[in-house]
Amino acid sequence: MRFHAVSGSATRQRTDCAVVGIFESGALATATAQLDAALGGRISRLVKRGDLRGKAGESSLLDVEGGPCRRVLVVGLGRKDGFDRRRYKKVLLAAAAALAKSGARDAISYISQEPVEGTDAYYKGRLAAEAVGHALYRVPVIRSSRKPKEAALRSFGVSVAERDQKKDAERGLAHGHGIAVGAALTRDLANLPANVCTPGYLGKQAREMAREHRSVRAQVLGEPELRRLKMGSFLSVTAGSDEPARMIVLRYQGAAAKQAPVVLVGKGVTFDSGGISLKQPVGMDEMKFDMTGAASVFGAIKAAAEIGLPINIVGIVPACENMPNGRATKPGDIVHSMSGQTIEVINTDAEGRLILCDALTYARRFKPAVVLDIATLTGACVIALGAHLSAVMSNDAELATEIEEAGRRAEDRAWRMPMAEEYHEQLKSNFADFTNSCGREAGAITAACFLAKFTDGLRWAHLDIAGTAYLTGTKKGSTGRPVPLLVDFLINRR
Ligand code: BES
Ligand code: MN
Ligand code: ZN
Repeated sequence: MRFHAVSGSATRQRTDCAVVGIFESGALATATAQLDAALGGRISRLVKRGDLRGKAGESSLLDVEGGPCRRVLVVGLGRKDGFDRRRYKKVLLAAAAALAKSGARDAISYISQEPVEGTDAYYKGRLAAEAVGHALYRVPVIRSSRKPKEAALRSFGVSVAERDQKKDAERGLAHGHGIAVGAALTRDLANLPANVCTPGYLGKQAREMAREHRSVRAQVLGEPELRRLKMGSFLSVTAGSDEPARMIVLRYQGAAAKQAPVVLVGKGVTFDSGGISLKQPVGMDEMKFDMTGAASVFGAIKAAAEIGLPINIVGIVPACENMPNGRATKPGDIVHSMSGQTIEVINTDAEGRLILCDALTYARRFKPAVVLDIATLTGACVIALGAHLSAVMSNDAELATEIEEAGRRAEDRAWRMPMAEEYHEQLKSNFADFTNSCGREAGAITAACFLAKFTDGLRWAHLDIAGTAYLTGTKKGSTGRPVPLLVDFLINRR
Protein backbone atom coordinates (compact mmCIF):
# COMPACT_ATOMS: atom_id res chain seq x y z
CA MET A 1 0.00 0.00 0.00
CA ARG A 2 1.23 3.46 -0.92
CA PHE A 3 0.18 6.35 1.31
CA HIS A 4 0.41 10.03 0.47
CA ALA A 5 -0.92 13.38 1.66
CA VAL A 6 -2.72 15.93 -0.48
CA SER A 7 -4.39 19.27 0.06
CA GLY A 8 -6.94 21.27 -1.93
CA SER A 9 -10.47 20.78 -3.16
CA ALA A 10 -12.04 17.39 -3.76
CA THR A 11 -13.45 18.70 -7.04
CA ARG A 12 -10.01 18.93 -8.63
CA GLN A 13 -8.28 15.68 -7.63
CA ARG A 14 -8.48 12.60 -9.82
CA THR A 15 -9.11 9.39 -7.94
CA ASP A 16 -10.86 6.03 -8.25
CA CYS A 17 -12.80 6.88 -5.11
CA ALA A 18 -13.27 10.02 -3.04
CA VAL A 19 -14.06 9.25 0.60
CA VAL A 20 -16.19 11.98 2.19
CA GLY A 21 -18.15 12.37 5.40
CA ILE A 22 -21.60 13.45 6.54
CA PHE A 23 -22.71 14.09 10.10
CA GLU A 24 -25.74 12.58 11.82
CA SER A 25 -27.52 15.94 11.63
CA GLY A 26 -27.38 15.60 7.84
CA ALA A 27 -24.72 18.32 7.66
CA LEU A 28 -22.14 17.74 4.94
CA ALA A 29 -18.46 18.01 5.88
CA THR A 30 -16.65 20.85 4.06
CA ALA A 31 -15.14 18.73 1.28
CA THR A 32 -18.42 16.82 0.94
CA ALA A 33 -20.30 20.06 0.26
CA GLN A 34 -17.77 21.05 -2.42
CA LEU A 35 -18.05 17.71 -4.14
CA ASP A 36 -21.85 17.78 -3.81
CA ALA A 37 -21.99 21.11 -5.62
CA ALA A 38 -19.78 19.76 -8.42
CA LEU A 39 -22.06 16.70 -8.70
CA GLY A 40 -25.24 18.78 -8.99
CA GLY A 41 -26.49 18.04 -5.48
CA ARG A 42 -26.39 14.24 -5.72
CA ILE A 43 -25.19 13.73 -2.18
CA SER A 44 -27.49 16.29 -0.50
CA ARG A 45 -30.51 14.83 -2.33
CA LEU A 46 -29.75 11.40 -0.87
CA VAL A 47 -29.46 12.97 2.59
CA LYS A 48 -32.83 14.74 2.17
CA ARG A 49 -34.52 11.52 1.08
CA GLY A 50 -33.18 9.82 4.18
CA ASP A 51 -30.98 7.43 2.20
CA LEU A 52 -27.79 8.65 3.87
CA ARG A 53 -28.04 9.02 7.62
CA GLY A 54 -24.52 9.77 8.86
CA LYS A 55 -24.40 7.20 11.66
CA ALA A 56 -20.76 6.66 12.62
CA GLY A 57 -19.31 3.85 10.55
CA GLU A 58 -22.17 3.51 8.02
CA SER A 59 -21.17 4.02 4.43
CA SER A 60 -22.54 3.92 0.91
CA LEU A 61 -20.75 3.81 -2.39
CA LEU A 62 -22.04 6.05 -5.22
CA ASP A 63 -21.14 5.73 -8.87
CA VAL A 64 -20.32 9.18 -10.25
CA GLU A 65 -18.50 8.32 -13.49
CA GLY A 66 -17.64 11.46 -15.42
CA GLY A 67 -16.45 13.73 -12.60
CA PRO A 68 -12.91 13.94 -11.22
CA CYS A 69 -13.55 10.73 -9.33
CA ARG A 70 -15.27 7.54 -10.50
CA ARG A 71 -16.85 6.74 -7.15
CA VAL A 72 -17.76 8.54 -3.97
CA LEU A 73 -17.81 6.68 -0.68
CA VAL A 74 -20.01 8.62 1.73
CA VAL A 75 -19.18 7.72 5.31
CA GLY A 76 -21.19 8.57 8.41
CA LEU A 77 -19.22 10.58 10.98
CA GLY A 78 -21.78 10.51 13.79
CA ARG A 79 -22.62 13.62 15.83
CA LYS A 80 -20.73 16.78 14.95
CA ASP A 81 -19.65 17.49 18.52
CA GLY A 82 -17.34 15.01 20.11
CA PHE A 83 -15.66 14.00 16.86
CA ASP A 84 -12.58 12.62 18.59
CA ARG A 85 -9.73 10.27 17.65
CA ARG A 86 -11.69 7.21 18.71
CA ARG A 87 -14.53 8.04 16.31
CA TYR A 88 -12.04 9.14 13.65
CA LYS A 89 -10.33 5.76 13.77
CA LYS A 90 -13.67 3.92 13.78
CA VAL A 91 -14.87 5.88 10.75
CA LEU A 92 -11.65 5.25 8.83
CA LEU A 93 -11.78 1.56 9.66
CA ALA A 94 -15.31 1.40 8.24
CA ALA A 95 -14.31 3.40 5.16
CA ALA A 96 -11.30 1.17 4.52
CA ALA A 97 -13.40 -1.98 4.97
CA ALA A 98 -15.88 -0.67 2.38
CA LEU A 99 -13.04 0.29 0.01
CA ALA A 100 -11.52 -3.17 0.38
CA LYS A 101 -14.80 -4.69 -0.84
CA SER A 102 -14.95 -2.32 -3.83
CA GLY A 103 -12.91 -2.49 -7.01
CA ALA A 104 -11.24 0.87 -6.34
CA ARG A 105 -7.48 0.74 -6.87
CA ASP A 106 -6.80 4.10 -5.31
CA ALA A 107 -8.70 6.46 -3.02
CA ILE A 108 -8.40 9.84 -1.37
CA SER A 109 -10.00 10.46 2.00
CA TYR A 110 -11.28 13.98 2.72
CA ILE A 111 -12.42 13.07 6.21
CA SER A 112 -9.06 14.20 7.61
CA GLN A 113 -9.89 17.77 6.59
CA GLU A 114 -12.42 17.91 9.43
CA PRO A 115 -11.15 18.98 12.86
CA VAL A 116 -10.71 15.99 15.17
CA GLU A 117 -10.64 16.79 18.89
CA GLY A 118 -7.21 16.61 20.50
CA THR A 119 -5.38 15.59 17.35
CA ASP A 120 -3.20 17.06 14.59
CA ALA A 121 -2.20 16.35 11.00
CA TYR A 122 0.47 13.87 12.12
CA TYR A 123 -1.98 11.71 14.06
CA LYS A 124 -4.68 12.07 11.42
CA GLY A 125 -2.26 10.62 8.89
CA ARG A 126 -0.98 7.97 11.25
CA LEU A 127 -4.35 6.73 12.47
CA ALA A 128 -5.61 6.66 8.86
CA ALA A 129 -2.72 4.50 7.68
CA GLU A 130 -3.12 2.20 10.70
CA ALA A 131 -6.85 1.86 10.02
CA VAL A 132 -6.38 1.10 6.33
CA GLY A 133 -3.69 -1.45 7.13
CA HIS A 134 -5.93 -3.02 9.76
CA ALA A 135 -8.99 -3.25 7.50
CA LEU A 136 -7.06 -4.72 4.57
CA TYR A 137 -5.42 -7.41 6.70
CA ARG A 138 -6.40 -10.97 5.74
CA VAL A 139 -5.97 -13.84 8.19
CA PRO A 140 -3.67 -16.65 7.06
CA VAL A 141 -6.51 -19.09 6.41
CA ILE A 142 -5.49 -22.68 5.95
CA ARG A 143 -8.13 -24.17 3.67
CA SER A 144 -7.98 -26.78 0.96
CA SER A 145 -9.58 -24.30 -1.47
CA ARG A 146 -11.11 -20.81 -1.55
CA LYS A 147 -8.30 -18.31 -0.92
CA PRO A 148 -9.57 -15.04 0.59
CA LYS A 149 -9.86 -12.31 -2.04
CA GLU A 150 -7.32 -9.55 -1.73
CA ALA A 151 -8.47 -5.94 -1.97
CA ALA A 152 -7.77 -4.04 -5.20
CA LEU A 153 -6.72 -0.94 -3.25
CA ARG A 154 -3.07 -0.02 -3.83
CA SER A 155 -2.89 3.67 -2.94
CA PHE A 156 -4.52 5.75 -0.23
CA GLY A 157 -4.39 9.54 -0.06
CA VAL A 158 -5.18 11.64 2.98
CA SER A 159 -6.37 15.16 2.28
CA VAL A 160 -5.53 17.81 4.88
CA ALA A 161 -7.19 21.20 5.22
CA GLU A 162 -4.04 23.32 4.84
CA ARG A 163 -1.04 22.89 2.55
CA ASP A 164 1.45 23.38 5.38
CA GLN A 165 0.00 20.32 7.18
CA LYS A 166 1.08 17.99 4.38
CA LYS A 167 4.54 17.33 5.77
CA ASP A 168 3.21 16.34 9.20
CA ALA A 169 0.55 14.14 7.60
CA GLU A 170 3.20 12.42 5.43
CA ARG A 171 5.27 11.66 8.52
CA GLY A 172 2.18 10.31 10.27
CA LEU A 173 1.36 8.16 7.25
CA ALA A 174 4.88 6.70 7.17
CA HIS A 175 4.72 5.88 10.89
CA GLY A 176 1.18 4.51 10.55
CA HIS A 177 2.29 2.32 7.67
CA GLY A 178 5.15 0.94 9.79
CA ILE A 179 2.75 0.25 12.64
CA ALA A 180 0.31 -1.47 10.27
CA VAL A 181 3.07 -3.71 8.89
CA GLY A 182 4.18 -4.56 12.43
CA ALA A 183 0.64 -5.23 13.62
CA ALA A 184 0.00 -7.46 10.59
CA LEU A 185 3.02 -9.58 11.55
CA THR A 186 1.71 -9.80 15.11
CA ARG A 187 -1.71 -10.86 13.85
CA ASP A 188 -0.27 -13.46 11.48
CA LEU A 189 1.85 -15.07 14.19
CA ALA A 190 -0.97 -14.99 16.75
CA ASN A 191 -3.62 -16.31 14.36
CA LEU A 192 -1.56 -19.30 13.24
CA PRO A 193 -2.51 -22.55 15.00
CA ALA A 194 -0.21 -23.97 17.66
CA ASN A 195 0.73 -26.95 15.46
CA VAL A 196 2.25 -24.49 12.99
CA CYS A 197 3.38 -21.65 15.25
CA THR A 198 5.65 -23.59 17.61
CA PRO A 199 8.59 -22.16 19.60
CA GLY A 200 10.85 -23.35 16.78
CA TYR A 201 8.69 -21.56 14.22
CA LEU A 202 8.96 -18.31 16.18
CA GLY A 203 12.73 -18.75 16.21
CA LYS A 204 12.69 -19.10 12.41
CA GLN A 205 10.55 -15.97 12.10
CA ALA A 206 13.08 -14.04 14.17
CA ARG A 207 15.87 -15.13 11.84
CA GLU A 208 13.69 -14.19 8.88
CA MET A 209 13.23 -10.67 10.27
CA ALA A 210 16.99 -10.33 10.74
CA ARG A 211 17.46 -11.34 7.08
CA GLU A 212 14.95 -8.70 5.94
CA HIS A 213 16.33 -5.80 8.01
CA ARG A 214 19.98 -4.86 8.37
CA SER A 215 19.12 -3.07 11.63
CA VAL A 216 17.84 -6.31 13.23
CA ARG A 217 19.88 -9.22 14.59
CA ALA A 218 18.43 -12.46 15.95
CA GLN A 219 19.76 -15.00 18.39
CA VAL A 220 17.89 -18.19 19.26
CA LEU A 221 18.79 -20.19 22.36
CA GLY A 222 17.82 -23.86 22.82
CA GLU A 223 17.19 -25.91 25.94
CA PRO A 224 20.86 -26.85 26.63
CA GLU A 225 21.67 -23.11 26.77
CA LEU A 226 18.66 -22.43 28.98
CA ARG A 227 19.93 -25.10 31.38
CA ARG A 228 23.37 -23.51 31.37
CA LEU A 229 21.74 -20.17 32.21
CA LYS A 230 19.92 -21.90 35.10
CA MET A 231 16.47 -20.88 33.90
CA GLY A 232 14.81 -23.50 36.09
CA SER A 233 11.51 -21.65 36.21
CA PHE A 234 11.18 -21.32 32.42
CA LEU A 235 12.28 -24.94 31.92
CA SER A 236 9.68 -26.17 34.42
CA VAL A 237 6.92 -24.94 32.11
CA THR A 238 8.23 -26.68 28.99
CA ALA A 239 8.97 -29.91 30.91
CA GLY A 240 5.71 -31.60 29.85
CA SER A 241 5.96 -30.74 26.16
CA ASP A 242 7.51 -32.69 23.29
CA GLU A 243 8.09 -29.40 21.45
CA PRO A 244 11.50 -27.95 22.39
CA ALA A 245 11.53 -24.48 23.98
CA ARG A 246 13.36 -21.48 22.57
CA MET A 247 14.57 -18.21 23.98
CA ILE A 248 14.60 -15.65 21.21
CA VAL A 249 16.56 -12.42 21.37
CA LEU A 250 15.88 -9.79 18.70
CA ARG A 251 18.12 -6.73 18.68
CA TYR A 252 17.16 -3.61 16.78
CA GLN A 253 19.87 -0.99 16.52
CA GLY A 254 18.75 2.47 15.42
CA ALA A 255 21.12 4.51 17.60
CA ALA A 256 24.71 4.46 18.82
CA ALA A 257 25.61 1.12 20.43
CA LYS A 258 26.26 2.78 23.80
CA GLN A 259 22.69 4.07 24.07
CA ALA A 260 20.79 2.01 26.65
CA PRO A 261 18.05 -0.03 24.96
CA VAL A 262 14.36 -0.39 25.65
CA VAL A 263 13.89 -4.06 26.44
CA LEU A 264 10.59 -5.66 25.42
CA VAL A 265 9.83 -9.06 26.94
CA GLY A 266 6.94 -11.01 25.40
CA LYS A 267 5.15 -14.08 26.75
CA GLY A 268 5.49 -16.75 24.08
CA VAL A 269 3.39 -19.68 25.26
CA THR A 270 2.49 -21.12 21.85
CA PHE A 271 -0.18 -23.25 23.50
CA ASP A 272 -1.43 -23.14 27.08
CA SER A 273 -3.32 -26.29 28.01
CA GLY A 274 -2.81 -25.42 31.67
CA GLY A 275 -0.41 -28.34 32.15
CA ILE A 276 -1.27 -30.77 34.97
CA SER A 277 -3.65 -28.04 36.27
CA LEU A 278 -5.49 -28.70 33.00
CA LYS A 279 -7.88 -26.09 31.64
CA GLN A 280 -11.47 -26.97 30.82
CA PRO A 281 -12.14 -27.81 27.14
CA VAL A 282 -14.52 -24.90 26.36
CA GLY A 283 -12.49 -22.16 24.68
CA MET A 284 -9.18 -23.96 25.09
CA ASP A 285 -8.43 -23.38 21.39
CA GLU A 286 -8.05 -19.69 22.27
CA MET A 287 -4.89 -20.58 24.13
CA LYS A 288 -3.05 -20.60 20.79
CA PHE A 289 -3.17 -16.82 21.28
CA ASP A 290 -1.12 -17.15 24.48
CA MET A 291 1.96 -16.05 22.54
CA THR A 292 0.50 -12.68 21.55
CA GLY A 293 2.86 -10.85 23.92
CA ALA A 294 5.74 -12.40 22.00
CA ALA A 295 4.05 -11.62 18.68
CA SER A 296 3.64 -7.98 19.71
CA VAL A 297 7.36 -7.77 20.49
CA PHE A 298 8.03 -9.08 16.97
CA GLY A 299 5.51 -6.56 15.59
CA ALA A 300 6.92 -3.58 17.50
CA ILE A 301 10.47 -4.36 16.38
CA LYS A 302 9.30 -4.88 12.80
CA ALA A 303 7.59 -1.46 12.94
CA ALA A 304 10.70 0.17 14.43
CA ALA A 305 12.80 -1.26 11.59
CA GLU A 306 10.28 -0.17 8.93
CA ILE A 307 10.14 3.36 10.35
CA GLY A 308 13.84 3.52 11.21
CA LEU A 309 13.36 4.70 14.80
CA PRO A 310 16.49 6.33 16.25
CA ILE A 311 16.65 4.13 19.36
CA ASN A 312 17.90 0.71 20.41
CA ILE A 313 15.49 -2.09 21.27
CA VAL A 314 16.06 -5.59 22.57
CA GLY A 315 13.20 -8.07 22.27
CA ILE A 316 13.31 -11.11 24.54
CA VAL A 317 10.86 -13.92 23.89
CA PRO A 318 10.71 -17.03 26.06
CA ALA A 319 8.76 -19.46 23.87
CA CYS A 320 7.37 -22.84 24.88
CA GLU A 321 4.23 -24.94 25.22
CA ASN A 322 2.47 -25.64 28.51
CA MET A 323 1.46 -29.31 28.30
CA PRO A 324 0.80 -32.22 30.67
CA ASN A 325 2.73 -35.47 30.42
CA GLY A 326 4.65 -37.81 32.72
CA ARG A 327 7.54 -35.37 32.96
CA ALA A 328 5.39 -32.31 33.47
CA THR A 329 5.79 -30.08 36.50
CA LYS A 330 3.30 -31.04 39.23
CA PRO A 331 1.44 -28.78 41.64
CA GLY A 332 3.60 -28.47 44.73
CA ASP A 333 6.89 -28.80 42.84
CA ILE A 334 9.53 -26.26 43.76
CA VAL A 335 11.68 -24.72 41.02
CA HIS A 336 14.82 -22.57 41.03
CA SER A 337 14.56 -19.39 38.98
CA MET A 338 17.59 -17.87 37.25
CA SER A 339 17.55 -15.10 39.87
CA GLY A 340 18.20 -17.71 42.59
CA GLN A 341 14.75 -17.26 44.14
CA THR A 342 12.74 -20.46 44.61
CA ILE A 343 9.11 -20.82 43.57
CA GLU A 344 6.47 -23.27 44.77
CA VAL A 345 4.33 -24.08 41.73
CA ILE A 346 0.84 -24.22 43.22
CA ASN A 347 -0.88 -24.10 39.85
CA THR A 348 0.83 -25.14 36.61
CA ASP A 349 -1.66 -22.94 34.71
CA ALA A 350 0.03 -19.84 36.14
CA GLU A 351 2.87 -20.54 33.70
CA GLY A 352 3.27 -17.15 32.04
CA ARG A 353 4.93 -15.59 35.08
CA LEU A 354 7.23 -18.62 35.35
CA ILE A 355 8.71 -18.06 31.91
CA LEU A 356 8.69 -14.26 32.15
CA CYS A 357 10.58 -14.13 35.45
CA ASP A 358 13.63 -15.82 33.93
CA ALA A 359 13.40 -13.64 30.83
CA LEU A 360 13.27 -10.54 33.07
CA THR A 361 16.39 -11.71 34.89
CA TYR A 362 18.06 -12.30 31.52
CA ALA A 363 17.08 -8.74 30.48
CA ARG A 364 19.48 -7.26 33.05
CA ARG A 365 22.53 -8.10 30.93
CA PHE A 366 21.41 -5.50 28.37
CA LYS A 367 21.56 -2.67 30.96
CA PRO A 368 18.14 -1.45 29.86
CA ALA A 369 16.82 2.11 30.11
CA VAL A 370 13.38 0.56 30.66
CA VAL A 371 11.91 -2.93 30.56
CA LEU A 372 8.35 -3.59 29.40
CA ASP A 373 6.86 -7.04 29.49
CA ILE A 374 3.78 -7.85 27.46
CA ALA A 375 1.68 -10.90 28.26
CA THR A 376 -1.74 -12.52 27.98
CA LEU A 377 -1.19 -13.20 31.64
CA THR A 378 -4.46 -13.54 33.54
CA GLY A 379 -8.13 -14.28 33.09
CA ALA A 380 -8.63 -11.86 35.98
CA CYS A 381 -7.49 -9.02 33.72
CA VAL A 382 -10.26 -9.91 31.25
CA ILE A 383 -12.77 -9.73 34.11
CA ALA A 384 -11.39 -6.38 35.31
CA LEU A 385 -11.06 -4.46 32.04
CA GLY A 386 -12.77 -6.59 29.39
CA ALA A 387 -11.69 -6.36 25.78
CA HIS A 388 -11.31 -2.59 25.68
CA LEU A 389 -8.28 -1.55 27.72
CA SER A 390 -5.05 -3.35 28.58
CA ALA A 391 -3.80 -3.30 32.16
CA VAL A 392 -0.51 -1.65 33.02
CA MET A 393 1.34 -2.19 36.30
CA SER A 394 4.68 -0.62 37.10
CA ASN A 395 7.21 0.10 39.82
CA ASP A 396 7.55 3.61 38.35
CA ALA A 397 4.61 6.02 38.31
CA GLU A 398 6.10 8.17 35.55
CA LEU A 399 6.62 5.16 33.30
CA ALA A 400 3.06 4.00 33.89
CA THR A 401 1.81 7.46 32.90
CA GLU A 402 4.00 7.44 29.78
CA ILE A 403 2.42 4.14 28.75
CA GLU A 404 -1.13 5.28 29.46
CA GLU A 405 -0.50 8.40 27.37
CA ALA A 406 0.99 6.39 24.50
CA GLY A 407 -2.14 4.23 24.58
CA ARG A 408 -4.39 7.27 24.47
CA ARG A 409 -2.52 8.86 21.57
CA ALA A 410 -2.43 5.58 19.62
CA GLU A 411 -6.09 4.85 20.41
CA ASP A 412 -4.91 1.56 21.95
CA ARG A 413 -5.56 2.34 25.57
CA ALA A 414 -4.21 0.96 28.82
CA TRP A 415 -5.15 1.59 32.46
CA ARG A 416 -2.89 1.43 35.48
CA MET A 417 -3.69 -0.95 38.33
CA PRO A 418 -2.09 -0.74 41.79
CA MET A 419 0.64 -3.01 43.15
CA ALA A 420 0.44 -2.20 46.85
CA GLU A 421 2.46 -4.19 49.42
CA GLU A 422 -0.68 -5.91 50.72
CA TYR A 423 -1.07 -7.85 47.49
CA HIS A 424 2.45 -9.29 47.78
CA GLU A 425 1.41 -11.11 50.95
CA GLN A 426 -0.91 -13.34 48.96
CA LEU A 427 2.13 -15.06 47.38
CA LYS A 428 3.64 -16.34 50.66
CA SER A 429 4.79 -19.98 50.67
CA ASN A 430 5.48 -22.42 53.52
CA PHE A 431 8.07 -24.28 51.44
CA ALA A 432 9.81 -21.86 49.05
CA ASP A 433 10.54 -18.13 48.70
CA PHE A 434 7.02 -17.63 47.33
CA THR A 435 4.29 -19.33 45.28
CA ASN A 436 3.32 -18.79 41.65
CA SER A 437 -0.39 -18.53 42.34
CA CYS A 438 -2.89 -17.62 45.02
CA GLY A 439 -6.62 -17.02 45.30
CA ARG A 440 -8.74 -15.51 42.53
CA GLU A 441 -8.94 -12.10 44.16
CA ALA A 442 -6.96 -9.37 42.37
CA GLY A 443 -5.48 -12.00 40.05
CA ALA A 444 -4.04 -9.53 37.54
CA ILE A 445 -2.32 -7.60 40.33
CA THR A 446 -0.87 -10.58 42.18
CA ALA A 447 0.57 -11.83 38.87
CA ALA A 448 2.30 -8.45 38.44
CA CYS A 449 3.51 -8.62 42.07
CA PHE A 450 5.12 -11.97 41.26
CA LEU A 451 6.99 -10.40 38.33
CA ALA A 452 7.99 -7.43 40.50
CA LYS A 453 10.08 -9.81 42.60
CA PHE A 454 12.40 -10.10 39.60
CA THR A 455 12.64 -6.44 38.61
CA ASP A 456 14.35 -4.85 41.62
CA GLY A 457 16.32 -1.82 40.46
CA LEU A 458 14.88 -1.93 36.94
CA ARG A 459 12.55 0.71 35.49
CA TRP A 460 9.85 -1.78 34.64
CA ALA A 461 6.24 -1.98 33.51
CA HIS A 462 4.02 -4.95 32.82
CA LEU A 463 1.19 -4.95 30.28
CA ASP A 464 -1.53 -7.57 30.74
CA ILE A 465 -3.19 -7.92 27.33
CA ALA A 466 -5.31 -11.01 28.04
CA GLY A 467 -8.50 -9.10 27.17
CA THR A 468 -7.28 -6.94 24.30
CA ALA A 469 -4.99 -9.27 22.34
CA TYR A 470 -7.71 -11.15 20.48
CA LEU A 471 -11.43 -11.18 19.81
CA THR A 472 -13.68 -14.15 20.48
CA GLY A 473 -16.95 -15.29 18.88
CA THR A 474 -17.67 -14.77 15.19
CA LYS A 475 -14.83 -12.24 14.89
CA LYS A 476 -12.34 -14.58 16.53
CA GLY A 477 -8.78 -13.52 15.80
CA SER A 478 -5.83 -11.41 16.81
CA THR A 479 -6.35 -7.63 17.12
CA GLY A 480 -2.72 -6.65 16.63
CA ARG A 481 -2.79 -4.91 20.01
CA PRO A 482 -0.80 -3.53 21.75
CA VAL A 483 1.53 -2.80 18.79
CA PRO A 484 0.13 0.74 18.25
CA LEU A 485 0.65 1.57 21.95
CA LEU A 486 4.16 0.09 22.01
CA VAL A 487 5.30 1.89 18.87
CA ASP A 488 3.84 5.19 20.06
CA PHE A 489 5.76 4.71 23.30
CA LEU A 490 8.96 4.01 21.34
CA ILE A 491 8.43 6.98 19.00
CA ASN A 492 7.99 9.35 21.91
CA ARG A 493 11.02 8.19 23.93
CA ARG A 494 13.37 11.01 24.64
N1 BES B 1 -2.96 -17.65 29.47
C1 BES B 1 -3.69 -17.63 30.68
C2 BES B 1 -4.43 -16.31 30.89
C3 BES B 1 -5.57 -16.03 29.96
C4 BES B 1 -6.85 -16.39 30.30
C5 BES B 1 -5.36 -15.34 28.79
C6 BES B 1 -7.90 -16.09 29.46
C7 BES B 1 -6.41 -15.04 27.93
C8 BES B 1 -7.68 -15.42 28.28
C9 BES B 1 -2.76 -17.83 31.88
O1 BES B 1 -1.65 -18.62 31.64
C10 BES B 1 -3.54 -18.47 32.96
O2 BES B 1 -3.95 -19.59 32.77
N2 BES B 1 -3.73 -17.77 34.06
C11 BES B 1 -4.45 -18.27 35.18
C12 BES B 1 -3.69 -17.89 36.43
C13 BES B 1 -4.22 -18.53 37.67
C14 BES B 1 -4.03 -20.03 37.62
C15 BES B 1 -3.50 -17.93 38.86
C16 BES B 1 -5.83 -17.65 35.18
O3 BES B 1 -5.95 -16.46 34.84
O4 BES B 1 -6.78 -18.35 35.45
MN1 MN C 1 -2.08 -20.68 31.99
ZN1 ZN D 1 -0.98 -18.72 29.72
